[in-house]
Amino acid sequence: MEVLEAIHTRRSVRKYQDKPISDELIKELLGAAMVAPTAGNQQAWHYIVVDDHEKLAGVKEYSEYAGMAANAPLGIIICGDLSLEKYPGYWVQDCSAATQNLLLAVRAKGLGAVWTGVHPIESRIKGFSENFNLPENVVPLSFVIIGWPAQEQKYKDRYKEERVHKNTW
Ligand SMILES: Cc1cc2nc3c(=O)[nH]c(=O)nc-3n(C[C@H](O)[C@H](O)[C@H](O)COP(=O)(O)O)c2cc1C
Repeated sequence: MEVLEAIHTRRSVRKYQDKPISDELIKELLGAAMVAPTAGNQQAWHYIVVDDHEKLAGVKEYSEYAGMAANAPLGIIICGDLSLEKYPGYWVQDCSAATQNLLLAVRAKGLGAVWTGVHPIESRIKGFSENFNLPENVVPLSFVIIGWPAQEQKYKDRYKEERVHKNTW
């Protein structure tokens, strides 16, 4: 799939088939996430691959809009490691770029996913940190829920001419 096609046809997928995702494919997805641009190439991140059904089902207890994880074969928590930062504060952008790369790789592979937000909601950060034993210097940014799609996707152009400014506001 061409990169522009993946960008334009990606949509959040919240319903999944009862079908596993191979380790090989998971590694490919992680490889796409880890090649994202980062400030000074700091790559101050960690990825937690979650395929344990009980853990996936438990996420709704502390992340109210991530309940679909209970019916997904896979979730990936993308975390910033503050102790690895060379340029403090950029971890949010770095991990966001990784999250988007992951979503596009998912789309290119025919999978479906939804980005569920963690940082900066304190209760979600606490929930993920406690349930996945994160060290103090590690902050979860996003939890991407992934599976083989069990829903139709609707693609719509969102280009808005009025949001584009040339040379000045
Ligand atoms: C930072 C962020 C947090 C999000 N959190 C959630 C969430 O908790 N639950 C959810 O179902 N979708 C979540 N989404 C997905 C958005 O709802 C979705 O991207 C948006 O409605 C646009 O739809 P699309 O992804 O199909 O283009 C989040 C997206 C972003 C970027």
